[in-house]
Amino acid sequence: MTIQTVILAAGQGKRMHSDLPKVLHCLAGKPMLEHVIETAVKIMPAVKPVVVYGHQGDVLKDRLSQAPVHWVHQAEQLGTGHALQQALGHVSDEALVLVLYGDAPLISVATLKRLIEAASADAISILTAVLDKPTGYGRIKRNAQQQIVGIVEEKDATAAEREIHEVNSGIYVLPAKQLKKWLPQLKNKNAQGEYYLTDVIAMAVSESMQVHAVHPDKQQEICGINDRIQLAQAERFYQQRQADVLMRQGVTLMDPARVDVRGEVTIGRDVILDVNVILEGRVVISDGCVIGANTIIRNSELGQQVEVRANSIIEGASIGDHCVIGPFARLRPDAVLAPHAHIGNFVEIKKSQVGEGSKINHLSYIGDSEVGSKVNIGAGTITCNYDGVNKHKTIIGDGAFIGSGAELVAPVTIGAGATIGAGSTITENAPAKQLTLARARQHTVEHWRRPEKENK
Ligand code: UD1
Ligand code: CA
Repeated sequence: MTIQTVILAAGQGKRMHSDLPKVLHCLAGKPMLEHVIETAVKIMPAVKPVVVYGHQGDVLKDRLSQAPVHWVHQAEQLGTGHALQQALGHVSDEALVLVLYGDAPLISVATLKRLIEAASADAISILTAVLDKPTGYGRIKRNAQQQIVGIVEEKDATAAEREIHEVNSGIYVLPAKQLKKWLPQLKNKNAQGEYYLTDVIAMAVSESMQVHAVHPDKQQEICGINDRIQLAQAERFYQQRQADVLMRQGVTLMDPARVDVRGEVTIGRDVILDVNVILEGRVVISDGCVIGANTIIRNSELGQQVEVRANSIIEGASIGDHCVIGPFARLRPDAVLAPHAHIGNFVEIKKSQVGEGSKINHLSYIGDSEVGSKVNIGAGTITCNYDGVNKHKTIIGDGAFIGSGAELVAPVTIGAGATIGAGSTITENAPAKQLTLARARQHTVEHWRRPEKENK
């Protein structure tokens, strides 16, 4: 059966105290609504989810303009039932409607699949949970036979109903055909003056439709995020879940509470991540890599057995097998390292290729460069790639040796096997295999005396 997902996201999110719509606040570096959309797409890739948005909508739509969804506007937030009704134009009668919330991004595909299995053209399924502290949620009412007979909102509940610990997650699967009949019948005679989606459950029961409860794999999955405290708690839950996945795949985490993954990562076997590693965007870390503490890796690929020492920042880089990076190294976009390259402390590499086995170990800047293989670049070398207007290229041939403190003023080519004397400022091409020096000759001033203090 077709599953049509509707994501309700028109609420304001006042408790965030933010200029940003609530559902654009990020979980693991991505807006929470985007997580929910991705989950919906995984459930039914062929059917675009519908997102019901409210008055902050243009910001939402602009920010998520690439999202594969139908946007439906709910001009006034008159309740969840009213919100869902706005989406019905995109829902075919034969579909089952999966209702999700834009502010509940932790829901898992596995849980939703079980929820969907429990529903059919003549049965509703509700995701419920039995909580120690049910405060704030709608409560699930059951009869003596333990069959679900309805949902009561906390603000409308009697003292006895508030004692019920089984709560409504707000996530359901409902047959579209009946939904189209029930939603226009909703009344708003309740404590909040809203059209409650929850009231359709009692309508369904009165028509002898079956209502099945399904529990989530983990209780936290149903959490809605209303304030920044809940956002932080959701973030920790999400990170813990990702850490578990990585460890099950053969990754050693020195402390699973101190690794953050904000994106899509692929990590090989026997990789070790030390504490406070942050992985962002698309990151590939191949077998046997060791990533040191306080390292940030963003949109980069690491070959096998790469050692990244502590406090390194790697962004948009491609790193070959057996490279050694850091500590305190910075690889910027389009840094491409061939296998066995060594990049040491306080070295910055930008838009440059570094050949196999080359070493740039201390305090250097290499930008817009092609560095051959087996090159040794001494401490404090700078490629002067920018003339204030344009960027220029530095080419360093295989086996070249650049002495410490050299400045290579681009565009410039250093021939293969060339040696550049320490402290040189190289402004013209240096020939292969020869020593090139470009610095003032040392000279000592004879008979020079230090000035002495004048006597008064
Ligand atoms: C709702 C449920 C409650 C459940 C709880 C779970 C109803 C009446 N109550 O309560 O049983 O325990 O969720 O979190 O459904 N929204 C709109 N348009 C509206 C109103 C809401 O799009 O007019 C969206 C909100 O953006 C939010 C979701 O629907 O994503 C839930 O709305 P909210 O007001 O937070 O519902 P609760 O009162 O928490
Ligand atoms: Ca409400």
